Amino acid sequence: MRVTIFGSGYVGLVTGACLAEAGNHVLCIDIDAEKIDRLNNGEIPIYEPGLEQLVKKGRKSGRLKFSTDVAAGVQHGLFQFISVGTPPDEDGSADLTHVLAVARSIGEQLEEYRIIVDKSTVPVGTADLVRAEIRNAMSARKRNVEFDVVSNPEFLKEGAAVEDFMKPNRIIIGTDNPRTAELLRALYEPFNRSHDRAIVMDIRSAELTKYAANAMLATKISFMNELANLAERTGADIEHVRTGIGSDPRIGYEFIYPGCGYGGSCFPKDVQALAATSKKAGYHSELLQAVENVNRRQKQVLFEKISAHFGGELEGKVIAVWGLSFKPNTDDMREASSRALMEALWAAGAGVRAYDPVAMGEARRIYGERENLTLCETAEQAVENADALAIVTEWREFRSPDFDALKEKLRTPAIFDGRNLYDPAFLHDLGFRYFGIGRGDPLSLEPQRDRRKDRERRRG
Ligand SMILES: NC(=O)c1ccc[n+]([C@@H]2O[C@H](COP(=O)([O-])OP(=O)(O)OC[C@H]3O[C@@H](n4cnc5c(N)ncnc54)[C@H](O)[C@@H]3O)[C@@H](O)[C@H]2O)c1
Repeated sequence: MRVTIFGSGYVGLVTGACLAEAGNHVLCIDIDAEKIDRLNNGEIPIYEPGLEQLVKKGRKSGRLKFSTDVAAGVQHGLFQFISVGTPPDEDGSADLTHVLAVARSIGEQLEEYRIIVDKSTVPVGTADLVRAEIRNAMSARKRNVEFDVVSNPEFLKEGAAVEDFMKPNRIIIGTDNPRTAELLRALYEPFNRSHDRAIVMDIRSAELTKYAANAMLATKISFMNELANLAERTGADIEHVRTGIGSDPRIGYEFIYPGCGYGGSCFPKDVQALAATSKKAGYHSELLQAVENVNRRQKQVLFEKISAHFGGELEGKVIAVWGLSFKPNTDDMREASSRALMEALWAAGAGVRAYDPVAMGEARRIYGERENLTLCETAEQAVENADALAIVTEWREFRSPDFDALKEKLRTPAIFDGRNLYDPAFLHDLGFRYFGIGRGDPLSLEPQRDRRKDRERRRG
């Protein structure tokens, strides 16, 4: 089939590459000419496991092409995917400028039947706006061509985007036209083989489903962070609580990790956008606002712990930061907790030595050259002569470092672990001051440590 994709970012590029891999002829359109040049030169502008090989293969086969030519895009595909950004507006609602700009371009060029597929995350009712925008652009040139608008929200996760697209848990198709649903089903057929994952529903429900999924996941995280803060104040260890509740199949182990807040291009903006939709609909959502507030506060927790440790005197201190991306296996730093931490440290007069396995280029792009940020080649370099280490992203390579070397390189052996990667008692035994999330102060670990020693003594 012939497919056009507007927007060649995390979602558009992955969608395009995977659809081309399945045998379709895909034309990706973006207004960012530099991005399209890079893609046409074989460069992948983002880090996403497995994507580079797919794009390379697609280009070589001639089934995956990139262009800035909107008219060619509208002409090319029966399916016209909209995969452009929907950033938050000032009031938190989704800014539909890019989505509607694509709709207008389609309306300005449309000459034969097309299926417009909304893949961007958009508020309930957006399909109607897209339809109206296309109609207006068509009537301005006195044309009236048939088209359908479908909501097909994307659920891929950055860091595993290709895998998620190839093996989706569900394919949501929101449409009021059964024939369009069948055509979209046919397009997704190669990714839907072992059992049927397509769920067809009305357009508004499909639009809301995407927000509901992200808001539910964000709620789980904020809930755990709320409890982590309580655990810290009551002498409990949130990691025990986590395994204790995760063992209940109604709760499950996924997405109940306490930490230093969620970031990324989706959860923060989608929770806010859903709250804005709710407000617009005349319903005050208590829960969504709370989820957002808890997360905002949680992003400051590491800074507060560091500041308290140094008695509020951070001027001239240097903090090593491990992990800049909002989660492992991506270079995306949108709304990353690392940014909240570094910016708070800078405001307090501290310097940062940072390392991330793949997001260094992105950090350089965002912050440029600045005196109080040293971007280091390795994790080991980042801790050299730092006053403490903060871990913000749970990259696998941080899971089991050489603690002796760490202790030697740090000026003071203090670790602020925003992802609870280490065993507090073990680090305490090694002579570190260790601060996790929801696990109490290390000094209060004495009884736990003594119990361990007793056990070891008894074992002989
Ligand atoms: N990133 C994710 O993990 C993810 C997952 C599911 C859904 N989504 C949703 O998908 C949408 C896209 O997200 P993303 O992360 O891929 O965004 P992105 O910022 O990585 O990419 C968006 C691209 O759209 C391009 N663009 C903007 N206006 C355009 C226009 N008029 N014509 C053509 N191209 C245009 C931009 O230049 C950019 O390359 C958002 O609504 C997002 O919420 C994202």
